[in-house]
Amino acid sequence: MRIVSGIQTTGNLHLGNYLGAIRQWVAMQDTLQPGDDCLFFLADLHALTVHQDPKALAAATIELAATLMAAGIDTDRSILFNQARVPAHSELSWILGGTARVGWLNRMTQWKDKAGKNREGASVGLFTYPVLQAADVLVYQATHVPVGEDQKQHLELARDIATKFNTDFGVELFPLPEPIIPAEAPRIMSLRDGSAKMSKSDPSDMSRINLIDDDDAIASKIRKAKTDPEPLPDTMDALADRAEARNLVTIYAALDGRTRDAVLSEFAGQGFGAFKPRLADLAVAKLGPIRDRLTRLLDDRAEVAARLRKGADKAQALAAPTLRAAQDAVGLQVD
Ligand code: TYM
Repeated sequence: MRIVSGIQTTGNLHLGNYLGAIRQWVAMQDTLQPGDDCLFFLADLHALTVHQDPKALAAATIELAATLMAAGIDTDRSILFNQARVPAHSELSWILGGTARVGWLNRMTQWKDKAGKNREGASVGLFTYPVLQAADVLVYQATHVPVGEDQKQHLELARDIATKFNTDFGVELFPLPEPIIPAEAPRIMSLRDGSAKMSKSDPSDMSRINLIDDDDAIASKIRKAKTDPEPLPDTMDALADRAEARNLVTIYAALDGRTRDAVLSEFAGQGFGAFKPRLADLAVAKLGPIRDRLTRLLDDRAEVAARLRKGADKAQALAAPTLRAAQDAVGLQVD
């Protein structure tokens, strides 16, 4: 297995990132077999597709690396690095740009959402973003990519690009990467609006729980989360039309490592007045230790930076043969 995934360096990690992606990264790292590799990277190049304050971007890269370490990524077992330090990502992205079709990119929902009505004014990078994402995984011949559900379409595109490249150039270079999406927490929604995903770009900080939030902030955000006056039912099916309630049950189950049905069988018949304090206690118990480790790691940013540099050296060595094979396949002279 070659496990690869990334996260954008735009602001703090939130509970959606943690439950949708990072927790799976840690679980996969912890069950690694000899000969398997885990590569996790900070997608700083992807962050550039919308304007970033340079100082804030540099700081966010270190802070995000520290957050991943605090959440359980062990740099002795996983390769943790920032994308910009491994030029093979960008180089392969350019090559794959000859394979990907404009029509494929036009169908990406994230492009449609982010560009909105102002496509002419969106950056070129925002449009070609999924090609770089394909390169991110294909450059390591990734077999498994743990992500939240919102990244599934980008992964399908990576598979289409891989298939077309292999066919067009008559090679068997890229295996098709498999998205690994957590069954019980595929998409964590905003605490203020059950129809929108929890996101760093939501203007309301009350919509998300950040991994850096203190205990009071966590509890208060849960207490003020939007809900409805009905008691909880005993099956998930009965929550089909209650998006906010479904979201809080999903968060509870994911944090507690239980199925949503198991959580409902415990709380059936109870209202949110009883459920929310229990959820707040659980969230504080699970997230508090991560925040405390993060605070300690941020006391030594130079050490975090040094570990990223080491990770990048390892990643570059793993990427080089595949990049070289892709260059050979398309006929580039690079010696
Ligand atoms: P990003 O930075 O938006 O999110 C990082 C990871 O967190 C997951 N996630 C969520 N999961 C559940 N509920 C949510 N509300 C939620 N919000 C975010 C995402 O699915 C993702 O797994 N394009 C990617 C970064 C990337 C990447 C890659 C990922 C760049 N190259 C190669 C995988 C492989 C992104 O913007 O994720």
